[in-house]
Amino acid sequence: MVWVIGDKGMLGTELSLALEKAGLGHVGSDREVDITDRVALEGFAEGKRIKWMANCAAYTAEDEPELCQRLNVEGAAEIAKLAERMGAGLIHISTDYVFDGNGERPYREDDETNPAGVYGRTKRDGELEVLKNCKNSFVMRTAWLYGRHGSNFVHTMVRLMNERESVRVVDDQRGSPTWAKDFAEMIAAFIRVADSGKNMSPGVYHYTNEGDVTWREFAQAIYEEGRRLGVITKDCAVIPCATEEYPTKARRPAYSVLDKTKIKDALGMKAPEWKASLRKFLSEWAP
Ligand SMILES: NC(=O)c1ccc[n+]([C@@H]2O[C@H](COP(=O)([O-])OP(=O)(O)OC[C@H]3O[C@@H](n4cnc5c(N)ncnc54)[C@H](OP(=O)(O)O)[C@@H]3O)[C@@H](O)[C@H]2O)c1
Repeated sequence: MVWVIGDKGMLGTELSLALEKAGLGHVGSDREVDITDRVALEGFAEGKRIKWMANCAAYTAEDEPELCQRLNVEGAAEIAKLAERMGAGLIHISTDYVFDGNGERPYREDDETNPAGVYGRTKRDGELEVLKNCKNSFVMRTAWLYGRHGSNFVHTMVRLMNERESVRVVDDQRGSPTWAKDFAEMIAAFIRVADSGKNMSPGVYHYTNEGDVTWREFAQAIYEEGRRLGVITKDCAVIPCATEEYPTKARRPAYSVLDKTKIKDALGMKAPEWKASLRKFLSEWAP
């Protein structure tokens, strides 16, 4: 049985669907089982034969450092300690924000972390808690996620492009747009392979869709595909701008491409190319 924690979030929802599709039994919890509350976590697990925990719960608000600390660090530690006590495997989701984004080649799992903000620092500290407290733990970093559930860049762009004549999008940050459904299916495959007896080395793994673009290039592709599929119904220009012109609370890494060799080798599978996945995602949405 796989326990999906944060199962009402963007990734958690997709992971529950992917486990279903892979024929893997699962249960889920979200806010009603607070991950910082050990008693609540133990109460939920009691009587269930939990073999895997997948932690998709996180807190991203840069201006709420205490909540980020509680969820991303203390919650992650509680989950890891419980997984260890139960003898379960733990898949813990993390982020490209653990890097400073000054890199010039895809980040490998063992590259030095250097988070620039509260979210990234607490996610990095959470990774360390997980690896310290649970022997059979797998930290899976991803980036630039979008999906059907919850707010994300694709939803925002489609809405704005249907409302405005132009949108300004930063053109000096590079990464790999990643469909939450692809990531969820990879996690399900990972569990299946590990359950089949293959020895998966605990530690950090990177996963995104294949290829990399700037946010402006991503927005342009959303526009072109969305227009073709009828998801975007009017003309809209995508205008490039620089990061300084569009300040955000959390400083986004300028370069957040992740090297996926390790996970691809472990599973013997490829990651879908980002544009093909975007096309599939928008087709599911099309009228
Ligand atoms: N989204 C991205 O672009 C991105 C990129 C890289 C990595 N990641 C990582 O991917 C993972 C999943 O992200 P996501 O975008 O799917 O997140 P999400 O949509 O915000 O989902 C997180 C879920 O956890 C729930 N939650 C909040 N506090 C909780 C608590 N105390 N106890 C239990 N559950 C709680 C949230 O509920 P509420 O909604 O009510 O708060 C939400 O349903 C995270 O680890 C994130 O760091 C995300």
